[in-house]
Amino acid sequence: MSIQRLQKILSQAGVASRRTAEKLIAEGRVTVNGKPVREMGTKADLDVDHIKVDDRRVKAAQQLRYILLYKPTGCMTTLSDEKRRRTVIDLLRGVKEYVYPVGRLDYDTEGLLLLTNDGDLAAKLTHPRHGVDRTYEAHVAGIPDENDLEKIRKGIPLDGKRTLPADVAILTKGHPNKREGEGVVVLTIREGRNRQVRRMLEAVGHPVSELKRTKFGPLSDKRMKPGDWRELTGDELKVLKARAARPLPDQAAQAAAHRRPRPKAPYKPKPKPKPSR
Ligand code: URA
Repeated sequence: MSIQRLQKILSQAGVASRRTAEKLIAEGRVTVNGKPVREMGTKADLDVDHIKVDDRRVKAAQQLRYILLYKPTGCMTTLSDEKRRRTVIDLLRGVKEYVYPVGRLDYDTEGLLLLTNDGDLAAKLTHPRHGVDRTYEAHVAGIPDENDLEKIRKGIPLDGKRTLPADVAILTKGHPNKREGEGVVVLTIREGRNRQVRRMLEAVGHPVSELKRTKFGPLSDKRMKPGDWRELTGDELKVLKARAARPLPDQAAQAAAHRRPRPKAPYKPKPKPKPSR
């Protein structure tokens, strides 16, 4: 290793994508030789300097790991937690590489979560233009009607920006855990905004009582239970990489449709042609 910018060192070591590494630095979560560093241009040498993120020593990446975890509820999708709550990393006994979660699930959401130290793949999978589709099963108060579902399909304004079109349906056949007065909704979204599914369903009057992610891009596994984890198979990884390499076919168009129209340039009359003599 040589002297390099800190964000490059972190992404090459598989700690996070460069973009996320910059955030970690700005948040003061990175220390070099015991001192927190917030300056974006700071350089260091991984062979010489003692670099830590959230108290975990950064080492040169040895092997790329791709782990599919079934996150239980009551578990943080962060590398560490100041309140000392259980994190997804606590569940990965025996994994020596510095893997980190691709996107996040709420503390009270369960389901499939990918963890890796492949910074390039993680960046692609979380990039808004390449973002993979994520499918959730939500238990909600009451049964949403066709009008509610249509609003969700078209997009719900959240924080001043409409969500991208989503696929949504009611699970019509009885769900084994369904309670009286409750509906079960299957929702596929293509973004990872904060508490997005909960807020979309709340916005149409059906707050969520239980939320489970059943698919992440092409990855799904009905046999996995809370706390289970496994390495991706070669085929899964191949399909995931292919999927990350291109935007969803209709996603660019969807994103364009959601872009605000550019303000029109102020009207300027054309100069009149001078009368010819
Ligand atoms: N949407 C949510 O509301 N919560 C999650 O954990 C994931 C998506």
